[in-house]
Amino acid sequence: MTEIDQKGIYITTPIYYVNDVPHVGHAYTSIACDALSRFYRLKDKEVFFLTGTDEHGQKIEQAAKNRNIPIQDFVDGMSKNFQAMSNNLNLTNDHFIRTSSSKHKAGVQKFWEILNNNNQIYLDKYSGWYSVRDEAFYSEDELVDSKAPSGSPVEWVEESSYFFKLSSWESKLLDFYENNPDFVTPKSRFNEVISFVKQGLKDLSISRTSFSWGVKVPDDDRHIVYVWIDALTNYLTALEFPNLNSDNIRKFWPADFHIVGKDILRFHAIYWPALLMAAELPLPKKIIAHGWWTVEKEKMSKSLGNVIDPDDMISKYGLDQFRYFLLKEVPFGNDGDFSQNSLIARVNSELANNYGNLVNRVFSMTMKNLNGIVPEVEITERESDLIKISDEKISDYMVQFKIAEFSKAISSAMDIVSSTNKYIDETQPWKLAKDNDHEGLKRVLRTSLEMIRLISILLFPIMPDSSKKILNALNIKIDDKSNSFSGFNKIESLLPGATIKKLDLLFNKIDKTEG
Ligand code: MSP
Repeated sequence: MTEIDQKGIYITTPIYYVNDVPHVGHAYTSIACDALSRFYRLKDKEVFFLTGTDEHGQKIEQAAKNRNIPIQDFVDGMSKNFQAMSNNLNLTNDHFIRTSSSKHKAGVQKFWEILNNNNQIYLDKYSGWYSVRDEAFYSEDELVDSKAPSGSPVEWVEESSYFFKLSSWESKLLDFYENNPDFVTPKSRFNEVISFVKQGLKDLSISRTSFSWGVKVPDDDRHIVYVWIDALTNYLTALEFPNLNSDNIRKFWPADFHIVGKDILRFHAIYWPALLMAAELPLPKKIIAHGWWTVEKEKMSKSLGNVIDPDDMISKYGLDQFRYFLLKEVPFGNDGDFSQNSLIARVNSELANNYGNLVNRVFSMTMKNLNGIVPEVEITERESDLIKISDEKISDYMVQFKIAEFSKAISSAMDIVSSTNKYIDETQPWKLAKDNDHEGLKRVLRTSLEMIRLISILLFPIMPDSSKKILNALNIKIDDKSNSFSGFNKIESLLPGATIKKLDLLFNKIDKTEG
């Protein structure tokens, strides 16, 4: 992929179906997008981070009917849960889109009209399988034991339907993939997409007539726009589409990162680029498919009663601990297992014993021995060695974070924590204090304070609250949307003579029995 240019960075989560309440899977995508958005803001990029709710279609209509609630009231209430999730996870989204809003609906109709004017749509009849749970059409040969490949039940559908000429985009898609080898990550998933397209694409049914909850097809209101066409268009309507001259469209389209779960990759990597080509609009730059979480090695499901509520995890372990665990536990793209014991073990060893311990001991030694005042020092070779390591780790971090390799980027930052702890263990500032080696003591504490500053900035996209507390105690202002990495790796960044503030213990050790 070409280096991202001066245009703003546009990052999106999938929009969440409102048939259910938020769970750890939703929280995961949202936290990943938030971390990436915060990272790019630190790199002085203008970021537009979008999330929202997908509120139409048969699945939602059925969910409202089952609960006997008027549909609009139902989606209003359920969407609020996801808005609350955004707040509770400390997301810095710039907009929250709802597909039942009139602006979005008008944008979908306009998108349809563009496709229609470009001769991309025709009326025919669909007969085939449909899964309401997946909101997806399946061909006979895709079924496994009479079910969708996802295991969802399917029903036979025969109805009048508009079709999008997807088949005519097959070779253009393959050309596009070839010219953009990083369009989808991980690579293995990209290969699946490519071989699916190579097997031949059928035209896509893009309207339904057997229910009414959705966007009406322009000039034919017996038909409802297929919910996936409606949903994908959110990425445009959130930027003021159809006004192609709007500031947001000009600044942020095409999207830089659509982050999605592996289950919905086909919609984003095949249908969406084909639709955009057909509408003569630029294609997104990158689609990242993350893996799925199981819970204590079991599939997460309501029937098993093991659905993880993000709010529970936040109140039990703390928000930053939860964010850290999710992004550190598995390489982005792989499946992961959400185990509370693993979370506790990680928090205890990496946050409490390593990072927390570094911060606590350096702060308390500075308070005790230097009255909290940042000293002016000259560094020696030992400090230069540490700085050299941290410089290398910072470059690794930058390379990894840029492409959403969160786990690797965090490891690089945590390596600096370990190296600094090692530096302290070796230089033994407590001994320097006892021996009245003031210059030595000052040098070690100043260097360690600088390292803490640096690490806390690196970890800010992952653990914004904790980083903010630490940096604030170091008299460094950091806020959610307007900070910058620039100059941060200069060792002399703290102001000599300034007094650091008292800091409460940030990462308490968690007792295993609490899990
Ligand atoms: N509404 C569609 C997306 C439309 S985007 C134009 C949708 N919604 S969803 O609510 O069902 O899923 C949203 C996201 O949550 C998906 O990316 C999905 O992969 C993710 N997850 C749902 N369960 C998950 C896990 N158990 N683990 C990780 N992510 C999972 O699909």
